[in-house]
Amino acid sequence: MKKKILLAGLLLILAALIIIAENETPSWSQYQEEYFQEQIAGLQAQLGAARDNAEKSRLQQEIAAYQKRKPEIIDLVLPDGKVERCKTCHVGLEEISSSHPSNTFGCAVCHGGNPLSLDKATAHAQMYGGGHPGSLNVAALSCGGTGANGVLCHAGNPEEAKNEVDLVKTSIMSTKAGELSVLRRMFGYDKTEEVPGLSKGQVAALYPNPLPGRANQQDFQQNCLRQCHQSGGDLPVLTTANNGSWSGAPEQDGTQAKGQAGAQSKIQGSGCETCHVLTNPAHTYTGTDTTMKSNNIGYGMVHSLTTQIPYTQCNQCHNQGNHDPVNLNFALRSDMTKVIRDWKSGDTTWLDRVQDYYLPGEIFARCEVSLDCIDCHTRQDVMGDGKLHTSQYEAVHLQCQDCHGTKENLPQTKKIVDSHDLAFEEQITNPKFPALKVGDEILVTGKGEELPFIRHQGNEWLQSSRVTGQTFKVPLVYGSKCQQSLLEQGADSCHKCHDRSASHP
Ligand code: HEC
Ligand code: HEC
Ligand code: HEC
Ligand code: HEC
Ligand code: HEC
Ligand code: HEC
Ligand code: HEC
Repeated sequence: MKKKILLAGLLLILAALIIIAENETPSWSQYQEEYFQEQIAGLQAQLGAARDNAEKSRLQQEIAAYQKRKPEIIDLVLPDGKVERCKTCHVGLEEISSSHPSNTFGCAVCHGGNPLSLDKATAHAQMYGGGHPGSLNVAALSCGGTGANGVLCHAGNPEEAKNEVDLVKTSIMSTKAGELSVLRRMFGYDKTEEVPGLSKGQVAALYPNPLPGRANQQDFQQNCLRQCHQSGGDLPVLTTANNGSWSGAPEQDGTQAKGQAGAQSKIQGSGCETCHVLTNPAHTYTGTDTTMKSNNIGYGMVHSLTTQIPYTQCNQCHNQGNHDPVNLNFALRSDMTKVIRDWKSGDTTWLDRVQDYYLPGEIFARCEVSLDCIDCHTRQDVMGDGKLHTSQYEAVHLQCQDCHGTKENLPQTKKIVDSHDLAFEEQITNPKFPALKVGDEILVTGKGEELPFIRHQGNEWLQSSRVTGQTFKVPLVYGSKCQQSLLEQGADSCHKCHDRSASHP
């Protein structure tokens, strides 16, 4: 008898617990409610500004639909039948890109994690690289993985150019081997550019004893080798208030960010997304996923991959200040406040652009400002060529003459004869430049790399910017009054006469 009472009592307690659990709103439904409210607020603002009646009633219908919408579990069913539920919490998240649509790719192929779970901790357990799946220590699993249909993604392809994951790991921007080599030679440790014991793909920041026996070895590691590389190097968090700082607590719009942001004020370069996911100076997410709070720094502005990479993205590391190779420290450029302001609002005039692009006092030709970095620097310049370079000058493939030719030669071209040409690959991911056709004549660099966004048509050489889409006529040295010497084709020689720094004191 006693046993039965006990059992009944236990069952009662259990039933009560189940009811409590069911009544407690799961966190995912709160995120969805927040998302609906944000959408409604946005639509209401649009409604206030709308003039047209048809537009008004469309907005009203949309608002009503969100008001009626109830939170529900969102099952993403992939082509192979697998189900993923990440979107149940991340309902507001943007599509990552048109070549990775979420209804065929899902989330786990890039992020890992446990896509069936509706509990944050479990869902996020074993995610690749936390919030940064493109970090080079996990990129082989994410970007370099294999799709559900057996397609090899960005590693393991027979065609080397498609193995971005392997290439980028050896790029000088990931290893920083150039900096290590220059300093070691300067202090007399090595006689050539080679660094004994530095192996392929190794990050220079991990090189044991880079300046053995010197008191400032640690400064070199901390202030130089650890900063600004794509495999976890520290990046500056640039804010107007702290005038740019490597370690200062971040702030947004003049107010000090509270909570965890102060603790994670160090932002690190994280592999592929350092270039392919665009950031703002404070590295904050500004998209529509309500789980992401704005003081959670270290993310791109929206969940979106792009190859239209503007110069500001490259300038997270480049053109930020001056390196002092003797004292082994780095000083941010003095006009950083203006640079940050224009990064946020966009350059409005040529003068803004000239001033923000390079450091004060630097010398360059007009095209080095009117074009973006990736309108010149080739795929192998930016993502590596598989060789371990220990000098920037050796790593950089592009030359001024590749576009301008010389007094004796026109720039080199190639006629597209095959629809499988690698040149089409770039077109797929970047529709900014005019569609490429078999029969088109494209520019080829001295090292044989194709630049499909520069075309030879009739007597003209036309370049379309891969970032802005703007078209430029490339002026040729051949047939011009240029006074260059055939033997001096390096940029430094050209800059002696072609110097735009007058407008940039
Ligand atoms: C093609 C690969 C890819 C796919 C597919 C993908 N993501 Fe991402 N995701 C990324 C990358 C790369 C980042 C890092 C962005 C950064 O550094 O800010 C990211 C960042 C995020 C973030 C942090 C916010 C942000 O934008 O930085 C969230 C949340 C997220 N992903 C969730 C998801 C969910 C949910 C899905 C499925 C609907 C998904 N992702 C699908 C590549 C992907
Ligand atoms: C129960 C809700 C929930 C589920 C389910 C969920 N997330 Fe999240 N996720 C969050 C929240 C909340 C954040 C904001 C950061 C935080 O609070 O940790 C977040 C942040 C992230 C981030 C940014 C990096 C980070 O760790 O902060 C990524 C990437 C991400 N989620 C991916 C995923 C993927 C992929 C899945 C599915 C495998 C998933 N999430 C499922 C709630 C969830
Ligand atoms: C995370 C920091 C970082 C970002 C972002 C970055 N770079 Fe670099 N880059 C470096 C460093 C550091 C070096 C020099 C390394 C050395 O000398 O050891 C370098 C070297 C280079 C070189 C000369 C060597 C070579 O590989 O050809 C070029 C060109 C270059 N970067 C272009 C770019 C362009 C274009 C972008 C934007 C699409 C960009 N970088 C973004 C850090 C970065
Ligand atoms: C230093 C900046 C930078 C980094 C880091 C970087 N990329 Fe790129 N990536 C670019 C640029 C610039 C382009 C467009 C260049 C082109 O196509 O000539 C590009 C193009 C691509 C393309 C399009 C195909 C193509 O040839 O145009 C893919 C795919 C790609 N990158 C994958 C990756 C992966 C995966 C990683 C990480 C392992 C990565 N990228 C890291 C700058 C970068
Ligand atoms: C990727 C192709 C490309 C490369 C590489 C290139 N240029 Fe140009 N260059 C252009 C284009 C396009 C214009 C026209 C720009 C404009 O109208 O603003 C131009 C214009 C010029 C002009 C005439 C405009 C002026 O008054 O300055 C000079 C001089 C010049 N470039 C020098 C150089 C030098 C020096 C280098 C090497 C550091 C170089 N270019 C590399 C494409 C290129
Ligand atoms: C000794 C000075 C000098 C040097 C060095 C020099 N140039 Fe020139 N360049 C000129 C002059 C002068 C012109 C003619 C300008 C004019 O017609 O207005 C010119 C014209 C040009 C033009 C054609 C501009 C146009 O608008 O038609 C290009 C392109 C160019 N140079 C590129 C280069 C490159 C690339 C280098 C380095 C390899 C170089 N120049 C080195 C003096 C020089
Ligand atoms: C007009 C084309 C053009 C543009 C735009 C351009 N570069 Fe370059 N860059 C070159 C050429 C050509 C060289 C090789 C110079 C030489 O002859 O030594 C070069 C060299 C470099 C080097 C090697 C070191 C050096 O100073 O020679 C780095 C690093 C670099 N560029 C980064 C960048 C970054 C970052 C951007 C954008 C902020 C950019 N470049 C914009 C044409 C360009």
